[in-house]
Amino acid sequence: MSKKKLLRLGVFGFPLILIFSQCLNSNKVDPRGSAYTGPASCISCHSKIYNNYLHTAHFVASQPATEKTIQGSFKQPANEFAFNPVEEVVMQQLDTGFYQTLYDHGQPRVSRRFDIVFGGIKGQTYAYWLTNQLFQLPVSYANDHWANSPGYSLAQVDFGRMIGTKCMGCHMSYAKQEPAGPQQFYNSTEAFDKNSIVYSVDCERCHGPGAEHVKFQTEHPTVKEARYITKFESLSRIQKLNMCAVCHSGGSNHMLKPTFGFKPGDTLDNYLTVVKSNAPANFKEIDVHGNQIALLASSKCFLASNMDCSTCHDTHVKDRDDSLLYTSKCISCHNTNTHNQCKMVNTLSANILKANCISCHMPALRSKVIVVQQTSALVHTHHIAVYPDETKRILASLKLTGR
Ligand code: HEC
Ligand code: HEC
Ligand code: HEC
Ligand code: HEC
Ligand code: HEC
Ligand code: HEC
Ligand code: HEC
Repeated sequence: MSKKKLLRLGVFGFPLILIFSQCLNSNKVDPRGSAYTGPASCISCHSKIYNNYLHTAHFVASQPATEKTIQGSFKQPANEFAFNPVEEVVMQQLDTGFYQTLYDHGQPRVSRRFDIVFGGIKGQTYAYWLTNQLFQLPVSYANDHWANSPGYSLAQVDFGRMIGTKCMGCHMSYAKQEPAGPQQFYNSTEAFDKNSIVYSVDCERCHGPGAEHVKFQTEHPTVKEARYITKFESLSRIQKLNMCAVCHSGGSNHMLKPTFGFKPGDTLDNYLTVVKSNAPANFKEIDVHGNQIALLASSKCFLASNMDCSTCHDTHVKDRDDSLLYTSKCISCHNTNTHNQCKMVNTLSANILKANCISCHMPALRSKVIVVQQTSALVHTHHIAVYPDETKRILASLKLTGR
């Protein structure tokens, strides 16, 4: 299909052009510029990594809204969410896409389309475009059903919460800022070039631009060593941590410029003024959501070793809930040889110890910022420590189940 035809199709159905342009990735210039090339060009040589990556949280960090990517149901009665006795939002599938429609006293008032999906591991939230501005939809998806979006009051349905560059900077690979149109919906000043969107946290978001690497390795297939791509091992510890800190150091940071251009080895301070509350004594003030850097940095494990995020995480694979895998990482440092084993080794059997390392020392705690329907999401804390209450709870539950 010719580019012209695609553009014409795009006039009628904006999502079409996105889907097609992703297929055409190889002949299209990446919106980030010619130094970038998009994940499709990594497949030929890194197919295993690529295929695993499609199942990770980083891949689902943002995606175009489609039947496949939206997890919630559009079938009655599961497609209704009542905010209060008079206001209800109904999720509807129409010819032109998927919509959230507000009914006030049974009358349809506002209808907005699902355009972008954020997430898909524990929950999802959705965004819609008004010309070149993005807003969050009032209904999200969590715990297998529709729910009010995190932090949304049930008293009144709100379609006007802006999605800005900060949000995009953590959940997208690129979104070019542009001036808002004269309308400026809901007083939002932020706007984006819709055609510049690069979904997901992709390979080059973490590794930096890859076009030169692809060109060189393709032209020199006998060279088995990587060129024109930053080698992880060549980075200092702080540079390794900053590859993740750019998005995992909390939402309250002051953004100096959009973080999309951050490359491994860059100085993070040029992009973000990271709120430093990582004094060990202050860890209780840090929300468990989104700030793994500060929490980890307040742990003895971190302070007394050279660990970084990839000591425990292989970001290319989905390894959630594989507690034995994580335990093996703990044991690599905490074993008989290193003489810093768990104090409970003589009290608990080896199997019970291994199966619950994470639950006792990195418990899933309630987030104060992700709250839907009065319940807050559980996030594993990265302040690795002794939690006497969790230990009591787990020992009690083990007795109950008779293990
Ligand atoms: C034509 C083959 C080819 C293509 C295409 C390719 N690579 Fe590579 N890449 C290699 C080879 C060869 C190595 C070195 C061996 C290895 O580590 O797998 C490598 C290594 C790497 C490394 C590891 C660097 C290190 O040593 O720490 C990264 C990161 C990387 N590639 C990223 C990418 C990304 C991102 C893309 C897509 C934008 C890509 N590669 C596309 C061939 C390729
Ligand atoms: C561009 C921003 C960005 C960067 C850079 C980034 N992450 Fe993430 N990460 C996210 C977002 C956003 C999520 C949540 C995605 C979702 O589920 O929607 C996430 C989720 C995760 C998860 C949860 C996985 C799961 O299955 O629930 C882990 C672990 C993680 N990141 C580790 C890392 C590590 C380690 C690094 C550095 C090597 C890193 N991230 C770099 C944005 C980023
Ligand atoms: C969230 C950040 C992140 C994303 C996204 C990501 N990587 Fe990596 N990648 C890393 C880190 C960190 C390392 C170093 C890990 C280590 O060596 O322990 C790494 C290592 C590599 C390596 C060398 C080591 C190996 O496992 O062979 C290659 C090749 C690579 N990445 C390619 C890719 C490709 C291709 C994609 C996209 C499909 C991708 N990466 C997506 C963070 C990321
Ligand atoms: C500072 C980076 C950052 C910002 C800003 C940010 N997020 Fe996140 N978000 C994350 C990380 C990291 C996670 C996953 C792990 C966690 O809870 O710490 C996450 C998780 C999520 C999830 C749950 C995903 C899942 O798969 O379960 C949704 C939905 C989400 N974010 C939407 C948003 C939206 C919408 C915005 C902007 C209005 C936003 N986030 C702003 C980093 C960020
Ligand atoms: C890279 C090595 C390393 C890894 C991996 C590691 N730790 Fe540690 N950890 C340490 C060191 C070193 C100390 C400090 C020991 C000391 O002070 O004597 C420590 C301390 C601790 C402490 C004592 C904390 C306190 O506040 O007193 C606990 C509990 C702990 N680790 C649990 C874990 C668990 C659980 C894991 C896996 C999720 C883990 N560690 C992974 C190196 C590591
Ligand atoms: C000592 C091991 C260890 C280190 C180091 C570590 N993590 Fe984790 N991380 C874990 C464990 C264990 C979990 C829980 C996994 C699960 O839910 O199965 C986790 C979960 C996460 C999650 C998902 C949180 C949730 O509950 O949804 C994110 C995001 C994350 N890690 C990011 C990071 C980042 C960024 C770093 C570096 C600052 C890091 N981690 C360093 C062990 C570690
Ligand atoms: C049932 C809960 C529980 C489980 C499971 C558990 N721990 Fe512990 N751990 C504790 C408690 C409680 C302490 C403190 C005991 C004390 O001070 O007497 C402790 C202490 C520690 C310490 C500190 C030792 C020191 O020198 O102060 C380390 C390190 C540790 N655990 C690592 C681990 C690792 C690694 C695992 C998994 C193999 C694990 N723990 C499993 C509850 C648990």
